Amino acid sequence: SSSSGGGGSVPGLPSVPVLGSLLHMRSPLPPHLFFTRLAGRYGPLFSLRAGRNYTLVVSEVGLAREVLLHRGRDFAGRPQMVTTALMTRGGKDIAFADYSPLWKKHRRLVHSSFTLFGEGSSKLQNIVLDAAESLCSDLQACRGQHVDLCPMLMRAVTNVVCRLVFNSSYRPHDPELQQVMDYNDGIVQTIARGGLVDIFPWLQIFPNKDLAKLRECVSIRDKLLTKKLEEHKLTYTPGEPRDLLDALLIGQSGSAGEDDITDDHVLMTAAEAFGAGVETTSTTLLWTIAFLLHHPQVQDRLHAELDEQVGRDRPPALSDRSNLPFLDSALCEVMRIRPVSPILIPHVAMQDTSLGGHAVPKGTRVLVNMWAIHHDPKHWEEPDQFRPDRFLDATGKKIAPPSFLPFGAGPRVCVGESLARMELFLFVSCLLQRFHFSVPAGASLPDLQGRYGVVLQPLRYSVTVTPRH
Ligand code: HEM
Repeated sequence: SSSSGGGGSVPGLPSVPVLGSLLHMRSPLPPHLFFTRLAGRYGPLFSLRAGRNYTLVVSEVGLAREVLLHRGRDFAGRPQMVTTALMTRGGKDIAFADYSPLWKKHRRLVHSSFTLFGEGSSKLQNIVLDAAESLCSDLQACRGQHVDLCPMLMRAVTNVVCRLVFNSSYRPHDPELQQVMDYNDGIVQTIARGGLVDIFPWLQIFPNKDLAKLRECVSIRDKLLTKKLEEHKLTYTPGEPRDLLDALLIGQSGSAGEDDITDDHVLMTAAEAFGAGVETTSTTLLWTIAFLLHHPQVQDRLHAELDEQVGRDRPPALSDRSNLPFLDSALCEVMRIRPVSPILIPHVAMQDTSLGGHAVPKGTRVLVNMWAIHHDPKHWEEPDQFRPDRFLDATGKKIAPPSFLPFGAGPRVCVGESLARMELFLFVSCLLQRFHFSVPAGASLPDLQGRYGVVLQPLRYSVTVTPRH
């Protein structure tokens, strides 16, 4: 018997009761591994019902490209979920807002504001380099000791987003910076514990105390951001945006009409830069160091490449990126083997459409399993091995394999991709120029399985940091 519903011939999990029992295993695999296993049984496109929602799961790059690119417009919707509605004032953000003309305008504005501070000027590079410099002095101070990099990296990345969004730069122990980190962490933790229930309803029930905690953190967040927004309204100069809030305010005032970008939209965009930009980037940095501890010969090669191309007398710059193909490859390999977002944010069919030749009714949810795509043995030789060289051709030039989509693609591609790439490159090159990372005596190597919350993150580990001079 088939319960695959309106999707016609898409292979489906046999029946809801069976699915239910599969999904209620006592020690369930994290969703990306569970879906990868199901794809082995049902194929790269299968359907299931999560609650009342007819859902397709995509585990192969050709189908993913169809969803994200070729039919990107058809599949650009987002489901409405309890926790995200609470975080975003009912979808006044980018990531969780459903597709609409206003959303399109909003996304375009955010994108152009990012570009203004990104590729267009050296502003963003300087912001990141300052944060990297301050991170390096923190590390210099704990040379020789066992350190947990997580809080330091979080602080560095949070500082980047604070300067980008509202032009505040904080000293390491500034109470306002601590407040930003605390509420951000509170939101991430509660969402991690319960927010995924909307997507993977079998995981657990969202406890009320988490909901209360989420409300509290969101309210502290909004109070701080509202204060920043009001200050900016009084002081900004059209034509000379100091930061993202200025750029959004300028764009907002230029867009009078029925479909307005409201203060709520500006506020939720600012909030989302933290929500989407801090955990993802700092986690990728933590994975990078974890894999370097496991592969000291890769770290040696990175050191050698940096010494040869940059030297030690000046900080690395974005203009060095094209001369550091091995570093670039190592970062790509980290994002391949441990995508922080192993399952993309759910997409929704905006209209009746098709996928892989099967009819797909309007309202169908689509989960793209990027983990499966990044570990597909048809596209990757020994996919479980960490091998940066797979991103280099025979002459040592960087290549872009078609099966590598860590930021998604199409109308819903990550808005922060260029910022994220810039941060990863500058942070890692600055860190490796100055330091050698090793496993502390008597400690074991970091666990590489990770834990699936809002992002796929490594378990905490400690590291010994040695200056290279
Ligand atoms: C969406 C990856 C950093 C802002 C996404 C998506 C992925 C992703 C996979 C979902 C695409 C989809 O649903 O099809 C990453 C990775 C990052 C990173 C791997 C860092 C290593 C950032 C940063 C920002 C950001 C720094 C902003 C400051 C966003 C936003 C969306 C998004 C706003 C929603 C786009 C939409 O729904 O239209 N990101 N991201 N991300 N990301 Fe990122």
